[in-house]
Amino acid sequence: MKVGLFGYGVVGSGIYEFLLRDEMRHNITVGGVLERRDIPEIKDIRSENVDEILADPTIDTVIEVLGGFEPAHTFALKAVKAGKNLITANKLMLAENYSEIMREARERGVSVAFSATVGGGIPFLKNLALVSHADTVLEVGGIMNGTTNFILDEMQSKGADFAETLKKAQELGYAESNPSADIDAIDLRCKLALCCSVGFDAACHPDDIPTMGVRHIQKRDIDIFRAHGLRVRLIGKGVRLEDGSVCAFCEPTLVGPGQNEYSVYGVENYIYYIGERTGKHGFGGFGAGRKTTAVNVYLDAIDILHGYSPFDQVSCEENLKVDASGAKHRYYLRTNAELPKEIEVEVRLGSGTYITKPMGVLEMHRLAHIMQEADETIFFAGWAD
Ligand code: HSE
Repeated sequence: MKVGLFGYGVVGSGIYEFLLRDEMRHNITVGGVLERRDIPEIKDIRSENVDEILADPTIDTVIEVLGGFEPAHTFALKAVKAGKNLITANKLMLAENYSEIMREARERGVSVAFSATVGGGIPFLKNLALVSHADTVLEVGGIMNGTTNFILDEMQSKGADFAETLKKAQELGYAESNPSADIDAIDLRCKLALCCSVGFDAACHPDDIPTMGVRHIQKRDIDIFRAHGLRVRLIGKGVRLEDGSVCAFCEPTLVGPGQNEYSVYGVENYIYYIGERTGKHGFGGFGAGRKTTAVNVYLDAIDILHGYSPFDQVSCEENLKVDASGAKHRYYLRTNAELPKEIEVEVRLGSGTYITKPMGVLEMHRLAHIMQEADETIFFAGWAD
């Protein structure tokens, strides 16, 4: 198998090194690398022209690791339209354009595999795709963003504030200089959308998932959680509903010692699915990093090489209706803004900090967005009872 590699950043160069060593002897070689920079180790196969790589008939598969939305989307679509299989680790690009790319691929009889979009090198998504062929997936979810888990865990264990912990995450190379995708949960929302698309067999769009990140969490919030014996984790969750829609949302969530997410430390992930017959399967480990991500990309390539990818059978025909209106729980809420009448307080913890009575997830997200106009530092966390 000869692949074209789109992108030679942290993940792309990791994949290249992995394929070059070919220690697993699957005979997968790199025929072209799309990269603007002049890099000595790829000088013979580097190209700045996507069409040049796609015109090579010996390249049958493209690995897209450019990151971000564009030009990744345009190039990935071009690859599929040119009849190439596509392997991508780019969750933002794929979640945003899932239906379009999958439909084009099905029409042309090529594969799209994307194990590395969720959990880096954790073999989660591929197994979710496999199990969905033989069981009804009832729920998917968990901690899928290592950067924010690192931040929340550091704040909890070191008593540090958000700004200094974010800076540390940037110095360690976990968070980008523009950290929005991680701390505003855009990355998580895209990963959850892909989990829902695979698990529930219909295309889920990330924009439909109510989402709140951790940008405004403060040390005093964590102190309150600690006093209650709780930890906060950024969690995405999707639950199949009887009418075929899905209740999905992403939000900071309070977890206690009995819950798996409570003991997930540093940049680790914990991702699970619940099958009707198979029950709950949880996957843990490092959800990012060039070496681990390269393994999932490589496994996708091996599947395609052998003529079958578990993602080939995942349906992309229908659009999944996301409806979070049925989910209800209590919330921790901190705000200086006046509370709207829809928010009923169960416990007043202190000045501007409350535990609400159980209320709709969709309602809380909607009201918090409105209240942000009066208090942009508003923070809430769902109480996982
Ligand atoms: N920024 C992502 C994270 C990278 O921290 O989990 C892996 O998808």
